[in-house]
Amino acid sequence: MTNKIFIFMALFLCAVTSRAEDGSSLWLRWQNVGKAKIELKGVQDGVAVARKELSAGYCGKSAVLRIDKAMADDDGFAIEERDGRLTITARRTSGLIYGAYEALRRQALGMPLDMESHPRFAIRMLNHWDNLDGSIERGYAGNSVWKWEQMTNTSTTDRRRLPAAQAALMDRIIQYARANASVGINATVLNNVNASPQMLSSAYINKVRWMADVLRPYNIRVYLSVNFATPMKLGGLATADPLDPQVGEWWRTKVAEIYRVIPDFGGFLVKANSEGQPGPGDYGRSHAEGANMLAEALDPFGGKVVWRSFVYGANHKGEDRVKQAVSEFEPCDGKFRSNVILQSKNGPLDFQPREPYAPIFDRMKRTPQMAELQITQEYLGHSRHLVYLAPMWKEFFSFVSPDRLQGVAGVTNIGDDTNWCGHHFAQANWYAFGRLAWNPELTSEEIAREWLRLTFSSDAAFVDTMTDVMMRSREACVDYMMPLGLHHIFKFDHHYGPEPDGFKAEYPLEWCPVYYHRADSVGVGFDRTVATGSGATRQYREPYASQYENIKTCPEEYLLWFHHVAWNHRMKSGLTLWQELCRHYQHGVDEVDRMVMTWRRMRPYVDDRRWQEVDDRLAHQAENAREWRDVCLGYFEGFARKNK
Ligand code: GCU
Repeated sequence: MTNKIFIFMALFLCAVTSRAEDGSSLWLRWQNVGKAKIELKGVQDGVAVARKELSAGYCGKSAVLRIDKAMADDDGFAIEERDGRLTITARRTSGLIYGAYEALRRQALGMPLDMESHPRFAIRMLNHWDNLDGSIERGYAGNSVWKWEQMTNTSTTDRRRLPAAQAALMDRIIQYARANASVGINATVLNNVNASPQMLSSAYINKVRWMADVLRPYNIRVYLSVNFATPMKLGGLATADPLDPQVGEWWRTKVAEIYRVIPDFGGFLVKANSEGQPGPGDYGRSHAEGANMLAEALDPFGGKVVWRSFVYGANHKGEDRVKQAVSEFEPCDGKFRSNVILQSKNGPLDFQPREPYAPIFDRMKRTPQMAELQITQEYLGHSRHLVYLAPMWKEFFSFVSPDRLQGVAGVTNIGDDTNWCGHHFAQANWYAFGRLAWNPELTSEEIAREWLRLTFSSDAAFVDTMTDVMMRSREACVDYMMPLGLHHIFKFDHHYGPEPDGFKAEYPLEWCPVYYHRADSVGVGFDRTVATGSGATRQYREPYASQYENIKTCPEEYLLWFHHVAWNHRMKSGLTLWQELCRHYQHGVDEVDRMVMTWRRMRPYVDDRRWQEVDDRLAHQAENAREWRDVCLGYFEGFARKNK
């Protein structure tokens, strides 16, 4: 029985507590808070977290945590309740942590506890686009949670021995770790994909080591984004050519230095030869040659290279941007080492409110792949608009089977704002990302309900109403921003608000809105057909390739993505394209107005502070939705006038 560890806990003094909201609360407000006297019969690393969480939250009489080596070798767990005794069984200690949080969630939601669950993806990862100076690329919730300058004592995680500021920082990072662990997230990339070479300096590696030590008990593995030219910028080499032996040697030495202090380090995330970042292409080498050089250095330690396919304007400059990832990477299929994973955004362009799925997921047959989703709302109203993203991600999984993927990454929306994500409802997207990364079969609605109940109130009148609001919010956003397949008509740089007439001669054409909507007196939309356009439809598998190619069968939500359509084209509704466009924009505005009115009725269910903060943001969203409608329709009407 050496493979079984039994830990008995007698839990008593169960009390229901409520506390005033300070605006910082996450969903970790298990409703039954018990005080436990714990009797331990055995301990193993990592069990401590499960024990601590359960003893604080579980309202039963006793609980047993049990390791069973006969279970599937993943982070899964089983929960059983018999005669008032709770048993959580897992193969790994990580499973005990996830099982503990699941038991608490189920208890808080009044659900039956008995269940067994295994994660669908092995890698459930957050990508922070946080810079070392504390700023965040596309972050809308304040500055970075990581305060690198406060990490002065890297030798201990005993908070009593830390300076006060660092102890407070550690508390905040533990909150973050708990929130992640409670939804199953098991990996985090700490820094921006546009990476500073300084990230790999010895001083920062020491700080990363401290972060890894704080996160490890919650089963969160740390990864770093790396700048491909680091051997030059930090190491003083004359080149970063992946085939240069000195370069390989530099990376091997650096990787060994990292693993000396972080033995479970996850690996590197790389943005190469994209948007001005250095890469193997600078030396005429392929992505596979670049990735493999890093993979070789990481391999002896079990580390991975996560290589991004978000590449355009490099070798296929001038080609329709949505085709470039496939053009660039397909020739490398089968040439990557086994510890390289290709990470691609869900759509072929760039996290638009609605995109068709990225065909690279079909085309790379012999390369492990991961999907990159964006939790931060770069193109969906930042953290100012209430837009629940689970339906968008479910849409993606309806085209790309989770079975094709080794993992999912979410570009986070977390910052040092009191409420973590800028908008209270933006927390729902962090939560939903984690829940879907564990189980993509969950419905968006189930997740919304859970989150609302854990975060605000279980009152049915509140939960039913706000679930409906959340479920409609993404489609509302598509409607007031870019309906019917329109895309990339945002203001330059900050990507907030409409700029359909956007054109700057000094910018690459593929950053300019006018390049994407192609409005003229005949019609609007980007012709991507094989017959007369860019031929992007050819990259899709059947039946989608044929469906998207034909204007008669192309789903209307993607119509202007794939076709240049006449203003007087008859839509399925019987309306002309112009009329249909107007209808969608107006519908988006109406939906937000409804959200505002609904929220006003929710006042009895929410504490004043959070209610007011959400109300302010909704009022702003309603104004923005009008601006989108008026600016876009005003602009398009100039073209449509003669022909609508
Ligand atoms: C978008 C985004 C950039 C980001 C890039 C990426 O273009 O606007 O800020 O760096 O995506 O994903 O690499």
